[in-house]
Amino acid sequence: MRRKAQVVPAFFALALLAACGSDQATEAPVVNSRQITTYAMDKHSFARPAEAVATHLDLDIHVDFDKKRIQGTATYELKRQSGDSVVFDTDGLNIESVTLGDGSKAKFTMGDTTFMGRALAVALPPGMNKVTIAYSTGADAKALHWLSPAQTADKQKPFLFTQGEATLTRTWIPIQDSPGIRITYNAHVTVPAELMAVMSATNPQERSTDGSYRFTMDKPIPCYLIALAVGDLGFKPTGTRTGVYAERSVVDTAAWEFADTEKMVEAAEKLYGPYRWGRYDVIVLPPSFPFGGMENPRLTFATPTILAGDRSLTALIAHELAHSWSGNLVTNATWNDFWLNEGFTVYFEHRITEELYGKDYNDMTSVLGYQDLLDNIAQIDTSAHPEDSALHLDLTGRNPDDGMTDVPYEKGYALLRLIESKVGRPKFDAFLRGYFDHFAFQSITTDTFIAYFNKELLVPENVQVDLDTWIFKPGIPTDVIVPVSTNFEQVDMQVTRFKGGSAAKGLETKGWGTFQWIHFLRHLPAGLTAKRMDDLDATFHFTSSGNSEILAAWLEQCVKNDYGKAYGKLDEFLTMVGRRKFLMPLYQELITTEKGKDLAMKIYGHARPNYHSVSQRSLDDLLGWKEGAGK
Ligand code: BES
Ligand code: ZN
Repeated sequence: MRRKAQVVPAFFALALLAACGSDQATEAPVVNSRQITTYAMDKHSFARPAEAVATHLDLDIHVDFDKKRIQGTATYELKRQSGDSVVFDTDGLNIESVTLGDGSKAKFTMGDTTFMGRALAVALPPGMNKVTIAYSTGADAKALHWLSPAQTADKQKPFLFTQGEATLTRTWIPIQDSPGIRITYNAHVTVPAELMAVMSATNPQERSTDGSYRFTMDKPIPCYLIALAVGDLGFKPTGTRTGVYAERSVVDTAAWEFADTEKMVEAAEKLYGPYRWGRYDVIVLPPSFPFGGMENPRLTFATPTILAGDRSLTALIAHELAHSWSGNLVTNATWNDFWLNEGFTVYFEHRITEELYGKDYNDMTSVLGYQDLLDNIAQIDTSAHPEDSALHLDLTGRNPDDGMTDVPYEKGYALLRLIESKVGRPKFDAFLRGYFDHFAFQSITTDTFIAYFNKELLVPENVQVDLDTWIFKPGIPTDVIVPVSTNFEQVDMQVTRFKGGSAAKGLETKGWGTFQWIHFLRHLPAGLTAKRMDDLDATFHFTSSGNSEILAAWLEQCVKNDYGKAYGKLDEFLTMVGRRKFLMPLYQELITTEKGKDLAMKIYGHARPNYHSVSQRSLDDLLGWKEGAGK
């Protein structure tokens, strides 16, 4: 039920209107002499931090699995800056009431619904710096994925997880949903007594007796990092300050796979300074989790598709851990600056894995990443937004999710590799360490970064690099350092031999690991006959691979070559796994032919309910899906 917005005095409504139209300062938060903090203009939030900004959240919520609803209160401490209102973001929430710190009812209005949800504007008497919003989530809240027992590993109990990045937190908490605004939070969460709740905060390691849990995040974080998971969870340590949560049947497997987590934290600290968040745990979610990983502070959310059984896909943990510096400590102030989060994180991830697994490993993952970048840029070039291959994005009027391609990741990484090669590692490392310290617990824009970069590194070291081209222009600049891998040279030779007609068993594949196989599969020639596909599969057993990356790369080839024998497995994989990175290329490849399109629609019809809203949205778009059609 959505309550009608209350009537507000005309002057108040006018002030809101004016506020919503005006531009704000474009720099990262700066405190001026009157103690007014200015914020970057974020076109993806209705919040008006120039008027009042939330500094702390007390969340008190109940998780109702029967109604698939979260209900409760969000109480905010505010920093008043100017004006007489505070504006929050909401999307699909039912706002029941708003109460002021003195217990009186507040006047509030709900703005028009846009693609970014609705503004909730609360009138504030002078000096009032506390509000409580009573609310419940709507049907199909986009952040929430409610899973039936059948969709879990253990098949016994239901499961819920949230996904906040980029702008989905507003679908489960009324909040100032801009990455430029940071808050601390406490939460009291009640869940069915048979389930355990964990958050991006201090966490329990055992189930409570009554389903009541209390959480604290005492560091200021952007609210896309507020996260909750509820399920029949177990916990197992992997070190003194690291561990894994997972469903009971998965927890031992996960602890084995992530045995290096503690070493990763140590390697990261050695590079760029102390880990500032206390514990670092990972939760392995059911396979419908739409991402590989999500860097929720203190508790990375991860897909089970990295449980390969040989620890070969754990670079993803290094990546999410690296976000504890790049992203969570120093955050993109707006989604246009997303490359500051991801480009730095990919660089940092490679430094961690190089420390643990060596240069050859790193060369291979760098080459694969560069291949992804080239493929992605080729797609972007022919899309509605060719300018999306610039590092700095312009996502005005668009869902920020649309700009989240490989570009901020891999082109960002390429830029940092270039600078590293120009100044040398010791100086670059010292710079990065200083950067994380200088901007710790702040959200910054690309411009702020560039100014700091010039001042602290490029000018003193007399480094010439065309930042304007690298950051603001589409495409790959000519001075990019193209990564190479000696391991892959040997793989390329085998690809050549296979192309020349060699049987699969004649290929020299001894000692190949996951990355060699991915490289091999990506470079198979087009137009392979069923007989040759049979030969490959009989020799290398791709269809039955327990490694999701190898299986996904193989299935892509199966679709390309219309290898019908693998379609059963394809259906099974697409139905079980909701990780968008795997889904998109497979469906994309399917729809290139009429026959494939029929199959895609058939599979999507039954698989769609298993996908999280972010995967659904991308696929609805790709497939032109209309609810109710094709079932
Ligand atoms: N923060 C991202 C996930 C994300 C990005 C969520 C944009 C919502 C919007 C996370 O750190 C990430 O990059 N995950 C990657 C894995 C990584 C190893 C490249 C993924 O999920 O594939
Ligand atoms: Zn990331």
